Amino acid sequence: MGYHYGLVTAMDAPTIMTFTLSDTAYGTDTPAAKQAMYDDLRPQLQGLLHGETDLVANAANFSSLVYHTMPGLNWAGFYFLRGDELVLGPFQGKPACIRIKKGRGVCGTTVVEGKAIVVPDVHAFPGHIACDVNSRSELVVPVRGKDGAVMGVFDLDSPQPNRFDQTDANGIAALVRLLEATLA
Ligand code: SME
Repeated sequence: MGYHYGLVTAMDAPTIMTFTLSDTAYGTDTPAAKQAMYDDLRPQLQGLLHGETDLVANAANFSSLVYHTMPGLNWAGFYFLRGDELVLGPFQGKPACIRIKKGRGVCGTTVVEGKAIVVPDVHAFPGHIACDVNSRSELVVPVRGKDGAVMGVFDLDSPQPNRFDQTDANGIAALVRLLEATLA
């Protein structure tokens, strides 16, 4: 368990970044097991974001960290608002829908409502946009800019029904706050 993050430079040698993800197998069966994972994820994300303000780079590493740490995911990534449309950003998983109108699907609804949405069964969510037929449950958390306005969303999909709960919504929201803090 644990992680290592460092920058190694030497004269006449390439710059090498090393980052080893935690190899802990996290449980999803109890709120306490989930909480332990989020307690580990926050300092790992802080290490990855430290000293960097580029949104694409930070959103890409954010997606990778979450996707490779959380069990039971088939997609994790960002959509960012461009006018009244969400446009696909950095993600992990299969190729996904590129543009989603504000108010459409779970992602577009999250923008309008301005709060996280947990969908236990995507088939029961009116207007759910199925990017991957294997997705059965979903969690979408808004991302806010410096002015406090919603500027995008972080979307998590799972092939398991009822994969996400309020502990996940709170845990992911706390990670999103760390990303928001890097915005210039
Ligand atoms: N299911 C989302 C669309 C994005 S994909 O899941 C990656 C929605 O209904 O907004």
